[in-house]
Amino acid sequence: MLKQNIEEQLQNQIEKEGSSSQLYLAMACWADVKGFKGAAEFLYAHADEEREHMLKLIKFINERGGHATVPSLPSPGKDYQSLMGVFKSILEHEILVTESINDIISLCLEEKDHTTNNFMQWYIAEQMEEEELARTIIDKLEMIGSDTSSLYLFDKELSGLSIHDPAE
Ligand code: FEO
Repeated sequence: MLKQNIEEQLQNQIEKEGSSSQLYLAMACWADVKGFKGAAEFLYAHADEEREHMLKLIKFINERGGHATVPSLPSPGKDYQSLMGVFKSILEHEILVTESINDIISLCLEEKDHTTNNFMQWYIAEQMEEEELARTIIDKLEMIGSDTSSLYLFDKELSGLSIHDPAE
């Protein structure tokens, strides 16, 4: 049975994962209309992944005797300046998500909730991959700079990039 304080933090994480999904979806829309088709594909797929992260938490709470609430989520907006700006925002966002997951794990350790701690380890591995991928993309975009033909090629490459499920 989940302790109430742990359930509350997991619920909070549900909201963060849901918001992440919305954020990536908004970024995908921006990339799509700006002609970055590869980036759009990457971001649409990532929005789905974030929804899966949310769902995984919802099911965990419900299976452990809690009752998850589906969050209402504000619109993330739609205006971005550049592809570099998008990926810098992604990195900043994912660093905050990682901190929030670390907080849950600290609470699990305090409360000796080894089951939830074990469950959250998947998220830790996922965050490491997500942060690393965002850093790699930012580095490549920095190298490309204002070279539009390289940017065009890199955009194509982006469609094939994804974050692998750490369990795979
Ligand atoms: Fe599921 Fe990108 O955090």
